[in-house]
Amino acid sequence: MRYGYFSDEDREYVINRPDTPLPWINYLGTDSYFGIISNTAGGYSFYRDARLRRLTRYRYNNAPSDVGGRYLYLRDDDSGEYWSPTWQPTQPELDHYECRHGLSYTRISSVYRGVRAETLYFVPLGETLEVWRLRVTNERAVPLDLSVFSSVEFCLWDAFDDGSNFQRNFSIGEVEVVDEVIYHKSEYRERRDHFAYFACSEPLAGFDTQREAFLGPYRGFDRPIVVERGASTGSIAHGWAPHGSHQVTLSLAPGETREVVFLLGYWENPRDAKFDPPGSQTVNKTLVRPVIDRWLRPEVVAEGFQKLRDYWTSLLSVVQVDTPDTDTDRMVNIWNPYQCMITFNMSRSASSYESGIGRGMGFRDSNQDLLGFVQMVPERARERLLDVAATQLETGGAYHQYQPFTKRGNNDIGSGFNDDPLWLILGTAAYLKETGDNSILEELVPYDNTEGTEVPLYDHLQQSLRYTLDRLGPHGLPLIGRADWNDCLNLNCFSEEPGESFQSDGVGLRSGGVAESVFIAGLFVLAAKELGQIAETRGLLDEAEYYRAEAEKMAGAIAEHGWDGAWFRRAYDYFGNPVGSSENQEGQIFIEPQGICIMAGVGLEDGTALRALDSVRKRLATKHGIVLQQPAYSRYHVELGEISSYPPGYKENAGIFCHTNPWLMIAEAMAGHGDQAFHYYQLINPSARETISEVHRCEPYVYAQMIAGKDAATFGEAKNSWLTGTAAWNLVAISHWILGIRPEFKGLVVDPVLPAAWDGFTATRRFRGATYEITVRKPAGARGRVTHLLVDGVRTEGNLVPPAPAGSTVRVEAIID
Ligand code: BGC
Ligand code: NOJ
Repeated sequence: MRYGYFSDEDREYVINRPDTPLPWINYLGTDSYFGIISNTAGGYSFYRDARLRRLTRYRYNNAPSDVGGRYLYLRDDDSGEYWSPTWQPTQPELDHYECRHGLSYTRISSVYRGVRAETLYFVPLGETLEVWRLRVTNERAVPLDLSVFSSVEFCLWDAFDDGSNFQRNFSIGEVEVVDEVIYHKSEYRERRDHFAYFACSEPLAGFDTQREAFLGPYRGFDRPIVVERGASTGSIAHGWAPHGSHQVTLSLAPGETREVVFLLGYWENPRDAKFDPPGSQTVNKTLVRPVIDRWLRPEVVAEGFQKLRDYWTSLLSVVQVDTPDTDTDRMVNIWNPYQCMITFNMSRSASSYESGIGRGMGFRDSNQDLLGFVQMVPERARERLLDVAATQLETGGAYHQYQPFTKRGNNDIGSGFNDDPLWLILGTAAYLKETGDNSILEELVPYDNTEGTEVPLYDHLQQSLRYTLDRLGPHGLPLIGRADWNDCLNLNCFSEEPGESFQSDGVGLRSGGVAESVFIAGLFVLAAKELGQIAETRGLLDEAEYYRAEAEKMAGAIAEHGWDGAWFRRAYDYFGNPVGSSENQEGQIFIEPQGICIMAGVGLEDGTALRALDSVRKRLATKHGIVLQQPAYSRYHVELGEISSYPPGYKENAGIFCHTNPWLMIAEAMAGHGDQAFHYYQLINPSARETISEVHRCEPYVYAQMIAGKDAATFGEAKNSWLTGTAAWNLVAISHWILGIRPEFKGLVVDPVLPAAWDGFTATRRFRGATYEITVRKPAGARGRVTHLLVDGVRTEGNLVPPAPAGSTVRVEAIID
């Protein structure tokens, strides 16, 4: 069952009924002002940080689940009837409804009793404001007198405080309404230099800024008294809940369309020019007012929207493919890079499942999110790498998270997740491969943001490897610390108290154990090989040799102590007992070590990799994707931690934890198994799952973190959509490994591993300033690999296209037989 359809030409997903299984959301904003918007206009906005600079309020965990948003109400002033043209919050019986989620914009249209309304929501490039452009058409045969009411509920900036510290908050709300613009200025009198504004392009018939005046006592957003009565009260908020609402009256002749622009924005004044006149307590509006006036003009809005469309056309033009499979094309060309931009911007902060008040940016998450983003805006990836590296500690360890606002490591959670530092090598390698910009390695970066500790980025990478080598356990495998990639495998935690975080420093780590991670061992092999290559590009051949030797040594330890007979083990626990082994009763085989070890090349030569892949196929693969481990833990294991806290089939306890699935796609591709790699790809491809939306339930245009596994009652149900490392890794798996167009240090590799049934594909790839027009031809049924290429018609042995001069266009033909 579907709730809409893809419109590939418009790069939109079109939802054609409002009651989707869950709110299906989209994101507004591209670099500093952001918002979440659902298919019924729910959601909220913030400037940079979803916790500390929240503009509007949202009620998480509510019923219905999507409460608080960018609401408009239309009121037929003759009959007194009113409704929400975006369905929520009044839930009218609309004659027509459509929500088009596009790239950084959403357009919701409806028809109700002859009144057509279309609202376009977007954030113009480079601005700290959002536009709501309402177009309303009278499709009736008679004139229409209409009132339009807008509504936003302001958040008192710190979203966590806003939802908890009521004894203070109910007394601090302040607004100004000047020249028909509503300014929300709570705390501006003291330490804040920023305020929000809400403006409208039409002369106002009225306004409200006190929520209770707008809603009326005992009423919700579905029945605001002001809308019911058809008259704003002109309320000015003093404490309680500052709110923004305009009233505009329109008289529409039959067939007439009117356009009304609303602006919701964020503005920061220089500290010494906060007030106007100086010495007063009145917000200085001289700097913001020209911005407001400009963006209230319809032609500026139209132009701004076109610029946003063009921006995305240009970003997406870096990689465009034309394959025999529509689900692949639309994910590679549109939705997957889009989701990668969102994960790059949001990390894990703000979605329907991340409250925006929780974690900061993850060290490992940020490095992995880069993998799917770096080709789009490499300069921003560069900046991110340097920020992340600056939170590394002198030991080579890393803060597990850092705060995007201060860019400082997060002390609450601390460090000691022993895989973290290695991801920095992978992130940096991806940047170098994409751009060839070795200068980043010379950038001076401090440890723990401490002045005086600056060393070149390259030294940070060396420290990352050193960190692992300094922490080996009795089997020569890396000690796991608090956890590795799997935050929920807490082998040193032993938590017995309810409510304790398995991750934070608050819980005592038991020392003296010997818990080791085969996953980190595999990651180390991969990272050491990458650093070896980086050293080589810098002419440091001895060093390169050293890293390769360390990789070999670690691969040896994996072969000796990490191999279980038919798959790679997961770990050794605190006491030295294997985890992820046939010796265990539950949790015998885990997906992560199979993926990472094979990606690192471990076992590809001696056949163990093939056996591991076979075991994954037999024991972990299901019709909805590959589960994380089997058998699921049926009870709590204090020596394993959070993984066993989840009911079987959910999350890390044998859920289909989608992030890990592309590792198996890559591993299968490396083994030359095109059909199997692509099969895994399609199992979790959201577009390919669109037809089972009633089972999948999450948005069909983006990946979710998890799909319930076969042990769960809701097998196949996705959860935690949008903010997941799944986005980056799937883009890497399909574009670099299955389609095989892969940036490497020495140039662009073209090495597809395709499903047998395909007869090839074409692609355009921009790479280091040149454009590559790639054609891959293969007879249907063939399973071979590329042995040579025709580069501008000239035969080249192997699969490497050397970088061409910037600005040039290169034709690459690959023939597989
Ligand atoms: C989740 C993990 C997540 C961790 C972050 C756990 O509850 O299951 O997926 O990484 O929280 O703190
Ligand atoms: C989500 C976290 O963001 C990520 O860092 C972690 O690897 C996975 N959960 C698995 O636990």
